[in-house]
Amino acid sequence: MTQVAGTVQRALKHVQVREHVRTLVEGAEPGTPAPSERELVAQFGVARMTVRQAMDALVIEGLLERMPGRGTFVARPRRRVGMLTSFTENMRQRGLLPESQTLLARREQAGPGVARALDLSAGDAVIHWKRLRRGNGQVICIEDAYLNEVLLPGFLQSGMPTSLYDALDARGLRPTWAEDSVTSDVATPEEAEQLELPKGSPVLRVARRALIDHRPVEVSRSAYRHDRFTMYVQLGSDA
Ligand code: GLP
Repeated sequence: MTQVAGTVQRALKHVQVREHVRTLVEGAEPGTPAPSERELVAQFGVARMTVRQAMDALVIEGLLERMPGRGTFVARPRRRVGMLTSFTENMRQRGLLPESQTLLARREQAGPGVARALDLSAGDAVIHWKRLRRGNGQVICIEDAYLNEVLLPGFLQSGMPTSLYDALDARGLRPTWAEDSVTSDVATPEEAEQLELPKGSPVLRVARRALIDHRPVEVSRSAYRHDRFTMYVQLGSDA
């Protein structure tokens, strides 16, 4: 009898700790540290094992994640297969603060390549936006994006946002799918300077054509520093 009561009590303690941590971390930004096991042991007056069990349950649920050698944190949302991510989302998933520095933003006439990719005619108006992107203050890549001007009246006059995809989203124009191609190459002298790399360093070139249903919205070319970026591609279904 006593033993059963003891077991029930332990079970309740573990649930109590778990639910307490859940209310603390729910809605918190990914990457926020979870309360430490030591704090919880002291606060609830329970065994370390009980706290461990409570945290394990939240890790399995996907609410928390353990980073070896660093501790336990609020988990990043699990990637959906084929999810189309922006630079901003990409950096946040890695726990880095995204930045955007505009190098050039102007209206141009589409050249033949850009026109073809955007389903326009050569000479049609496009928005050309070139940016230096940083994560936690460190240069990651240069992004050269071309947008269909007709879809984005007043875009250049409204102050350039940090996230293009958030700005597109606000206009109901966030791309629903995209084609990316990835190639390795050598940085041009100008790129090497902007990326703060020695002349002749390798870069990763990513070209994207992003569409909403059948309507192309954006074509871009990015050059990533070879030493600061790994591209993750999920293959197959995680269902
Ligand atoms: C990725 C894509 C670019 C796109 C950018 C938008 O890096 N390769 O084509 O322009 O995301 O990112 P953000 O919304 O942070 O501006």
